[in-house]
Formats: sequence, structure tokens, C-alpha cells
Amino acid sequence: MSLQKLDRALKAEVDQLVSEGRAKAPERIITGFIPPQGSRGPRYRLQGSDRDYIRMNANSYLSLSNDPRLIAAADKATHQFGVGPGAVRFIDGTFTHHVELEKRIAAFVGKPAAKIFNSAYTANLALALTIQNQQTHWIGDELNHNCIIRAMRISNVPRDHKAIYRHNNMEQLAEHLANIPEGIERVVVIFDGIFSMRGDFAPIDQIEKRVQPHRERFRDGIVTVVDDSHGIGAYGKNGRGTSEHTGTTPDVIVGTFGKAFGVNGGFIAGSEALIEAVRQKADTYIYTNPLSVADCAAALEGVNICDSEEGRERLAHLKARTEQFRRGVEALGMESIPGPHPVVPVLVRDTARTRQFVQYLFENGVLVVGLTFPVVPKGDETMRFQINAAHTESDIAAVLEIMGKFGK
Ligand SMILES: Cc1ncc(COP(=O)(O)O)c(C=O)c1O
Repeated sequence: MSLQKLDRALKAEVDQLVSEGRAKAPERIITGFIPPQGSRGPRYRLQGSDRDYIRMNANSYLSLSNDPRLIAAADKATHQFGVGPGAVRFIDGTFTHHVELEKRIAAFVGKPAAKIFNSAYTANLALALTIQNQQTHWIGDELNHNCIIRAMRISNVPRDHKAIYRHNNMEQLAEHLANIPEGIERVVVIFDGIFSMRGDFAPIDQIEKRVQPHRERFRDGIVTVVDDSHGIGAYGKNGRGTSEHTGTTPDVIVGTFGKAFGVNGGFIAGSEALIEAVRQKADTYIYTNPLSVADCAAALEGVNICDSEEGRERLAHLKARTEQFRRGVEALGMESIPGPHPVVPVLVRDTARTRQFVQYLFENGVLVVGLTFPVVPKGDETMRFQINAAHTESDIAAVLEIMGKFGK
């Protein structure tokens, strides 16, 4: 009864989203996982359907989510310490698995220290809550992920203390750096490593080149931050992501265990002092339960596999399958955005046609995401394909064959 009025108002707001074409479709429910068999990679079952689906829309780039070693590690940790931490980290909710994972991920990305979070989303919020003060200025790419934009809002960055440059536009970044207002004492230049809807990457080497001349200008310096959630573990010969690809590592790295490493959780990696400040100041670290030991143990196993000969083989296979797919898309005369990353957009450039294409693929057992107006500007309508290390050569060939028959 008491919710009646609010319900009515909220329903009107959701109806508005529907009428604007911004509402999310009903969620499909995965009911089954069919392990790989011979030349056929894993398949999925969905509620209400009795056919098998290939996922071309998962972030699990190394395909470790169902790996028996990760499952065994999670199982062992759970049997040892239980399913929940019982408290937040600073009230005796810190277990050996949390600390071990922090050390391991810091070493993996080449930083002195790291803090882990429930997600990369909350890691970005934590970073902003830690760094932001009245004298901080933020500069970011216009296509930065929602969690970076939200992080600036939550940490109350005033409008005149932030500047957004057009996507990967280094001239505009240089202008913003030159025009930082008087009185600023610290500057943060923040960008996605891989832009998840496009599969292209931030030219970190170029960004650092623009930042370098300004480093001594401010009392607390300039900090470069990459959120490489789609890059770490997913590409670069050794899985170090955009830093490895561009040959340049920014001051701070934010990432996730929920994509290439196949589990859940996020992290910030940087200096010891930064990480201790995060521990002391960041609400999304202090006031919320940490990841379960099961998540930590599985993520640790995921990082270890990535950082091994097997990991490098998986990355090489992923690269080969990505190239196969990209070549196939080109041969079909379809448009994409070039890049080495397993996110492969196919630009359809029409909302109705994108919807039809995504539906056609679904009816033929292929799961992909469609981005249509008004979520993306008119003319930029896209389907996003994601390759992972469990896709086989014949899987990719089969998907391309299905794509080639669209509209025929
Ligand atoms: C750049 C970026 N940051 C953060 C996230 C969120 O990651 P998580 O699921 O770990 O919060 C994503 C995922 O979509 C992302 O693309």
C-alpha cells in the first residue's frame, strides 16, 4: 500500500525510457553450460529454448570461468574459511586470500601495491573518493566508462574542475592540460585502456608524452590512470593489456577480475602511499564486505594461469581467433573498427537493421549485443562481438557463415 504512489511515479519514468527506446530488454536466463566437445567450443542453454547458443557477448576472454582449477581453488577456500567474510576488511574481515591476491595482482601489473574491491566499478569510485579534493582537476576521454563518470560525480568534482577531450584526441588533451585553471594543486588524467564498445585503445604512450611537460607544474603532480578492465589479461603477448600494447604504463592501473580472469572483483594498483590512502579514505572499500575467499582464490588461480606458458598460449589462440573473425568480417564486406582486441564491433549504421541482425543471429544460436539509437548516436548503430579463448576455429567459421546469410 505505502509504495503505491512511488510505484506509479517510477512506472511513468520507466515507461518514458521505453518510449525513448532506452529501456533494457528483458533479461535472458542462462540455464545450462555445455562444455567444449572436440572442435566445438562451449555452448549455453537459455530458459524457454531447447537449442544451444554460442556466446559472442562474454567478457571472459581467457575462458577461465568454468576451468576446473579455478573451481577447485574456490571450493578449497570455501571449505577452509566459509562462504562469507563476516565483516568489512578493517573489522577482521581480511583473510589470507585477500592479501595474497593483492600482492599477486600488484606484481602482475608491475606496481608496488594493490587493493581489491567487489568490482572495478567500486574500485573507480574508491580511487576518486581518495584523490579528489577542492584543488583537484580531472581530465578524461569522452568515451570513458560510466563508472569513471559516476566516480567524478560521487566525489563531487565541480563542473569547472573537469575537462573532457574528444575520443583519443591528443590535441585536445594537450589544450586541456595547457588550460588548467589557477589554484589547482593536483591533476588526474583518466581514460579507459580498451573502449569496450569499440575495441580500440587509449594511446597511452601519446598521452604520457602530452602529460610529461606538465608534471612539475602542480604541487601534487599529475597522475595518469588507466581503467584497463577489458585489457588486462585479454591482450598483449603477456596479458598486460594496453600498457603492454603501447609500451607505456600509467601511474595507476584499475582493472577487474570479472572479465579475462573469469571471476569477479576489481582492483587499484599503484604506489604504497596511494593504496594506504585508499584503505583509509575510500567508502567503497571501508564500508562494504570484501569479495569472498572463493572469489579471491579463483581469481588468484586465474592470474597465475594467465601469467604462465599456458596463459601465453591462450592469448596467442585468442589473438588468432580474433584475427580470423576480423578477416571474415572484412571478407563479408562489413564495417568494423580496426584494432587488436577481441572486442570486434560490426557497424550496421541503422537501428532497425541492427535489431533485425541481432534477432537473426539469436534465432541461429549466436548471442551478441546490439547498440542502437538513442543509446548510440544515429548512424553509429553497432553489433558488438567478443571473441574468447574457448572459441575454436570452426566456431568462428560457423558464426561468419551465419552472418554471411543474413538477409539472403
Ligand atoms: C572500462 C570498464 N571499467 C569497469 C567496468 C566494470 O567492471 P566490473 O564488472 O568489475 O565492475 C567495465 C565493464 O563493463 C569497463 O568496461
